[in-house]
Amino acid sequence: MSQPVIDATDVRVWYGTPRGSVKAVDGVSFAVQPGEILGLVGESGCGKSTLGRALLGLLPAGAKMDGSLLFKGEDLVAMSDKERFAHRGTDLAMIFQEPLTRLNPLMRVSEHFTETLRSHHPKMRASEVEARSLEVLRLIGIPPSRWKAYPHEFSGGMRQRLMIALALVLRPAFVVADEPTTALDVLVEAQIIKILHDLRRNFDTSLLLITHNLGIIAETCDRVAVMYAGKIVEVGDARTVFRDPQHPYTRELLRSTITLATDGLNSIPGAPPDLVDPPPGCHFHPRCPDAMTICPQFEPLLLARDGGPSRVGSDDVACWGTRTAALTPQQRTPLVREELAVADEA
Ligand SMILES: Nc1ncnc2c1ncn2[C@@H]1O[C@H](COP(=O)(O)OP(=O)(O)OP(=O)(O)O)[C@@H](O)[C@H]1O
Ligand code: SF4
Ligand SMILES: [Mg+2]
Repeated sequence: MSQPVIDATDVRVWYGTPRGSVKAVDGVSFAVQPGEILGLVGESGCGKSTLGRALLGLLPAGAKMDGSLLFKGEDLVAMSDKERFAHRGTDLAMIFQEPLTRLNPLMRVSEHFTETLRSHHPKMRASEVEARSLEVLRLIGIPPSRWKAYPHEFSGGMRQRLMIALALVLRPAFVVADEPTTALDVLVEAQIIKILHDLRRNFDTSLLLITHNLGIIAETCDRVAVMYAGKIVEVGDARTVFRDPQHPYTRELLRSTITLATDGLNSIPGAPPDLVDPPPGCHFHPRCPDAMTICPQFEPLLLARDGGPSRVGSDDVACWGTRTAALTPQQRTPLVREELAVADEA
């Protein structure tokens, strides 16, 4: 297997707040291979955007991070801001959700591209700026006749294409796309998804695609990582995970999506936990239909489905329910929630 583009080990990110620190990313490890599209799913507030921003060194002031984050073998966490900036854009890029707030309404398309390219190639000639930009715009479906247009002259879908083209014009090796289609209608969404899917063919780019939409993951991604309360609870080949999910949370997510399309709204019972003080052991235990006595006591590690250690490219899950043979009969007994509530109050 080739060297991963991104290799993250035990990445943690927390925000200082008056209530205490919010553990938004709580010990996450994964790798992304060259040309691979990894989908990242999970309920609102589970830490997806924080993880995506952390990978690119774009965390807000007040956020703290540790762990190891290698880009083609180079440690991004240990780098100075200047070194990281040199990578951003040329090697690492982000596609944001709200294009209008990211595009300057007073700047023409040509000026946006000139600024982006010249920030990393200050001496690039205007003719080359135009040629490189128009090539990307053409691939993204924006005709050369729009080169001098302003952002407000584009529809929402076209603006999102512009954002994608701006992220790609520097030919980054790794792109984080955070909910890139949420604000778009279904038809435009489908076009954008196709563009993202074609990325690796046209640009040989690896992509972390953050979305609430499991349908998009199924259509677009090679692998999928499921996040719950700051942790990756299941990761693997997208088809394998969709066909045979191992983690109860993944199963519930899939069930709620399928039901949404057929029977109407069916959300996962219970609320996502408070990340200042998440539940002990497996963070999902208060909502898990399969919870056992061991679940609130010890945190299950992310291990390969076959029970061995997690490896680059393996299909992994963090759930005691997949390892019952290693548990005592007492640990395997179903969790009695009333007793837990009384014990909590005592
Ligand atoms: N700047 C911040 N300061 C304090 N807490 C923050 C900050 N940004 C995010 N958080 C908290 O960190 C946790 C993770 O937030 P994040 O935005 O990463 O989640 P998400 O999975 O992207 O959610 P969504 O699906 O709604 O976009 C949440 O509990 C959120 O409230
Ligand atoms: S470890 Fe226990 S509580 Fe957590 S998902 Fe598995 S069975 Fe449910
Ligand atoms: Mg988000």
